[in-house]
Amino acid sequence: MLQIRNARILYGRAIEAVRDVSLDVARGRVVALLGTNGAGKSTILKAVTGLLASEDGEVVSGSVTFEGQSLLGQRPDAVMRHGIALVPEGRRLFTKLTVRDNLVMGGFIRSRGDFSAGLDSVIALFPALANKLDRTAGFLSGGEQQMVAIGRALLSGPRLLMLDEPSLGLAPLIVEEIFASLRRLRDERGLTILVIEQNARLALSLADDGYILENGRIMLDGTAAELAANPVIRSLYLGMTDGGTRHNLRDAAPMRQRVRWPA
Ligand SMILES: Nc1ncnc2c1ncn2[C@@H]1O[C@H](COP(=O)(O)OP(=O)(O)OP(=O)(O)O)[C@@H](O)[C@H]1O
Ligand SMILES: [Mg+2]
Repeated sequence: MLQIRNARILYGRAIEAVRDVSLDVARGRVVALLGTNGAGKSTILKAVTGLLASEDGEVVSGSVTFEGQSLLGQRPDAVMRHGIALVPEGRRLFTKLTVRDNLVMGGFIRSRGDFSAGLDSVIALFPALANKLDRTAGFLSGGEQQMVAIGRALLSGPRLLMLDEPSLGLAPLIVEEIFASLRRLRDERGLTILVIEQNARLALSLADDGYILENGRIMLDGTAAELAANPVIRSLYLGMTDGGTRHNLRDAAPMRQRVRWPA
């Protein structure tokens, strides 16, 4: 569905944020993109959604395609019309507007009938929002704001939902609830999901496939089960010691689970 091939991404024509990234999100899968701060995770999502240009960023080589069509050079609203929605890092709600108006912003590309059906399904997914539609979004709790951000993205009717660190700054119980809702979206509506997370344990418990990005390169990829069983991932990302052996990512490189692309 989404294919990125050998993408190199620069900011300001000079700063190399992504060196050489290839990544696949197949229909109906949940894919986790893991990596430490500054690895290039958000940059990859911005390359997909057309948001790079507004930050003077550019995919200088390689390709980004959705269902065979190139997304390079497309504007954010065009990408949304293709069926891709982003829940951005930090949620980015219109904090002075009501919850309902925030949701309306997500549904602007749909007809009124589609919007009200969409609103009903967002409320079914997040019942906590049912009696808060007329509240000012900025006054909701962090978890509720994240639900609004996800709801807003869903209201554009996406086939691919991308989330940039949905757990950031939220209490563990709320995070569990948000991830349970993502699981429902996948299981009940067949939504395809690409989720960026620093919380590897959570992400690998939800995902079918995972990629580990470091310094703008994919260091490791495989099914979530393979990654969760990988001793290097267990030590570096899951905080498990496996008998005290210390690992670093260089150990992981030769263990690459699957090479999917010709060099
Ligand atoms: N608008 C920008 N202009 C210049 N450099 C940028 C810009 N945005 C990001 N960068 C740089 O690109 C690199 C990758 O940043 P990116 O935001 O993609 O990382 P990330 O993996 O999402 O990190 P985090 O987990 O902290 O959100 C970093 O070195 C960052 O400083
Ligand atoms: Mg980021």
